Amino acid sequence: MKYAFILGHNPQLSVAEILAVLPVAKTIEQSNAFLIIELNDEIEAETLQKKLGGTVKIGKVISEKFTPEAIFEILKNNQQSNKLNFGVSYYDCPKDNLGMKVKGLLKQADISCRLVVSKDKALSAVVITKNHCFDFMVLANKFLAQTLAVQDFEDYGNRDYGRPVRDLVSGSLPPKLAKIMINLSSLAESKIILDPFCGSGTLIQEALLLGYSKIYGSDISDKAVKDTEVNLKWLKQHSGINLSGTNIFKCDVRELSKKVDQVDGIVTEPYLGPPLRGSEGILFLEKVIDDLSKLYLSALAEFAKVLPSKGVVVIVFPSFKIDREVIDLPIIDEIKKMGFTQVNDRPLLYGRPGQKVWRRILIFTRK
Ligand SMILES: C[S@@+](CC[C@H](N)C(=O)[O-])C[C@H]1O[C@@H](n2cnc3c(N)ncnc32)[C@H](O)[C@@H]1O
Repeated sequence: MKYAFILGHNPQLSVAEILAVLPVAKTIEQSNAFLIIELNDEIEAETLQKKLGGTVKIGKVISEKFTPEAIFEILKNNQQSNKLNFGVSYYDCPKDNLGMKVKGLLKQADISCRLVVSKDKALSAVVITKNHCFDFMVLANKFLAQTLAVQDFEDYGNRDYGRPVRDLVSGSLPPKLAKIMINLSSLAESKIILDPFCGSGTLIQEALLLGYSKIYGSDISDKAVKDTEVNLKWLKQHSGINLSGTNIFKCDVRELSKKVDQVDGIVTEPYLGPPLRGSEGILFLEKVIDDLSKLYLSALAEFAKVLPSKGVVVIVFPSFKIDREVIDLPIIDEIKKMGFTQVNDRPLLYGRPGQKVWRRILIFTRK
């Protein structure tokens, strides 16, 4: 069976997440917009969509020819008591009039329908959800897929903006990215996860929602510890999540091993440096990079003490984009000397054009 995944804003990251969650998948075709994979078993699309942070839609490939008849047959077999709403989305190919042709076929067959259109080439998750419509995807003029699940935009919005505390100074991790990072760890749900820079608790929140129950969170700041506790309490009230396996405490990461015995994996976004305007001088930037390098190296040295062999670290590094130059923390070789192996060879970047500090996601395992 072939499935199509519509990728989020940072396609490499979305693909890495899908392949981490579905390691047996065979990649058939990949672009910046979509990934087509082949699997032996059927997937539970709604469940998988909820699990993935970087996928916007999941569909099943129904044909490698995109004829109006293929869509008509499916709609005919899914007739409802009310009007049949449907739309066609185009990825990596120009918009076509497939929708109108299908509408013609449905009219001929006396099936009442409404063609949902949008100004964009593809119907968004918002349009599909609000119109309760079937969506068919034409992918690079090569594959036709039927959408089975779309991203729950309201749920993400609620978790990002609805929770009591958002740290506007340090900046909160977007919940979707938190989910991607946890999935990239490939840790089983029974394992213990630690976020030693927990801030307002986004990673812990998303890990709980993904089904992990043994989670530690720590931070050097009293306020962050408090914020995390408040946000988790809110999550418990709203989602009925059990917090009995979570442990939130104050700790400077440089002394982590004094407070933690062992965890199976660390998933974290450390301090990324002060917000930048882009006009800072090179001396200022060098100092920021030097300070952050020291903090990150101390953190990784502590991680090596609390992780077992093959223990995993998924961590955000800042990637500075200044005057078309990209500057990363020059510490990968030192981290490898500490006994870590870098797992991801391709750069996994998260950011938006114009942003001065991008997030680079790195995955290490301890030897
Ligand atoms: C970018 S924030 C993390 C945000 C978090 N991922 C979230 O979504 O809320 C970085 C956090 O690192 C913490 N921090 C900075 N230096 C630290 C240290 N030496 N040890 C532990 N935490 C530290 C800060 O207090 C801050 O809460």
